[in-house]
Amino acid sequence: MQSEEFTIRLQVFDSSDALPSDEKYLLSKALEARELAYAPYSKFKVGAAVLLDSGIIYTGNNQENVAYPSGLCAERVAIFAAMSENPKAIVEKIAITAISEMHELTTPVYPCGACRQVIAEYEFNAKKPIRMVLYGTSGKVHVLDGIGNLLPFAFNAENLLGKK
Ligand code: THU
Repeated sequence: MQSEEFTIRLQVFDSSDALPSDEKYLLSKALEARELAYAPYSKFKVGAAVLLDSGIIYTGNNQENVAYPSGLCAERVAIFAAMSENPKAIVEKIAITAISEMHELTTPVYPCGACRQVIAEYEFNAKKPIRMVLYGTSGKVHVLDGIGNLLPFAFNAENLLGKK
């Protein structure tokens, strides 16, 4: 039997004031997007803002549907909007924030598994870690540099297609 260990790195900031100015701005765009979410069923609003290598920012929010599985998470709305208009772009950073009408979110919300897989797709293509800035409502900000910190052992193109 062999065992391997690896490190997951999480940076915790007490407030968004401690973030570099581009990330503070990206988070402010995610907060704006969050307010416009369409979440009449969960009352859980999520906003995401994606920074591309060109400096352009795309935002998205969760879009729910009365047929529940037809809805989509904020992260994928933002990333798909960005990549559908800029197919060659590199995603540098994504800020994600959530708020619930039902309860106080004492910790930042982390992207769901499907959104992690989508973030991994574009990160692997670009071979550059995507920096993820996560914020709830309590002030604290969690920052992760690269999807490996959230989705180790991700299913990837090499698994499906073989080595290039
Ligand atoms: N949601 C997101 O937008 N992003 C996540 O990472 C987690 C969940 C949305 C989907 C649904 O509209 C609501 O939050 C409750 O699951």
